[in-house]
Amino acid sequence: MKALILSGGRGTRLRPITHTSAKQLVPVANKPILFYAIEAIKNAGITDIGIIVGDTHAEIRKACGDGAQWGVKITYIPQDAPLGLAHAVKISEEFMAGESFVMYLGDNLVKDGITTLVDEFRGQGYNAQILLAHVKNPTDFGVAELDGGRVVHLVEKPKEPKTDLALVGVYMFDASIFKAVNSIQPSARGELEITDAIQYLIDNGYKVHSHVIASWWKDTGKLEDMLEANRIVLDGLEALCEGDVDDDSSLLGKVHVAKGARIVNSVVRGPAIIGENTLVENAYIGPFTSVYYGCTIKNCEIEHSIVLERSEIVDLGTRVEDSLIGKNVKVGSTTRKPKAYRFMLGDNSEVSVIQ
Ligand code: DAU
Repeated sequence: MKALILSGGRGTRLRPITHTSAKQLVPVANKPILFYAIEAIKNAGITDIGIIVGDTHAEIRKACGDGAQWGVKITYIPQDAPLGLAHAVKISEEFMAGESFVMYLGDNLVKDGITTLVDEFRGQGYNAQILLAHVKNPTDFGVAELDGGRVVHLVEKPKEPKTDLALVGVYMFDASIFKAVNSIQPSARGELEITDAIQYLIDNGYKVHSHVIASWWKDTGKLEDMLEANRIVLDGLEALCEGDVDDDSSLLGKVHVAKGARIVNSVVRGPAIIGENTLVENAYIGPFTSVYYGCTIKNCEIEHSIVLERSEIVDLGTRVEDSLIGKNVKVGSTTRKPKAYRFMLGDNSEVSVIQ
């Protein structure tokens, strides 16, 4: 069995972070989301992985390489434009060479992995297996209608969903999916939809099994979903201190301090993770915060946030919360006159100041 990870597309909902970077490489608990997918696939015993890449291919290739760091073999499959999930399957036919495969959306995170689900699919001889989860906002997902446990109808992002059962971004297929993706037409939004391809299998008598998962799952497309994913993953963290913590600092609860990080006269209340070579000085880092590598957090307080590499947050009088701070960002204060806010913000940035 092989695997296909989808890491093309455009991360429109995470702009401005994704103006310049792949959304699949945004870190959750200081690890790119995509790496969790690769690990879940490897743990399920699959080592031959195709990754669909688009405009951000160089960054994805740099991060994942040939897969040796996980003991897997990665083949990159370029997609000229994000023409849909079923289009991504279509261009992977040669790579799959007739084998069954797991398709994993590179921005999805499934907490308990996929090993038992892959085993179930392997043993049963289904043509396709889809995972479903109850959600509060079904209009944001592909939605399934069941008849006594059997999937009868799938609709992509329906305006009036008939159920709250969303399609999770992990699918298992045998080679019959290629007949389906080559038979369907683009949807109203111009994409070849995987929901339509699976509907084709259902309508043509193929065995499509559905599995309602109980474990936590997230499509990390939006800021609040990223923060929730970060919360859930950090909660499972073990305390580990590989950096330097001075006598005036305290680490409370599950705190991970990576190599080369320095904590000076500060309080870090876990679950939290401080990346390599990051300096935390005269600061408070609160629960559910991930600070990536090479950052400076000084004379300020931050909680329930994600800070990407090499950013600086310095001299703030008010606590930062619920924030996603990009790479190389500088947030600070000044005594310069006139007393005013001075911003240099990228397109689609969002700032809330205290009134
Ligand atoms: O997360 C689950 C949902 O994922 C399902 O419930 C939906 O049925 C399914 O269509 C999909 O919806 P999204 O709107 O979340 O898909 P998105 O455009 O975000 O793409 C998912 C991943 O696939 C993302 O990592 C980008 C990548 N992708 C997307 C497209 C459209 C590609 O690699 N190529 C593409 O052409």
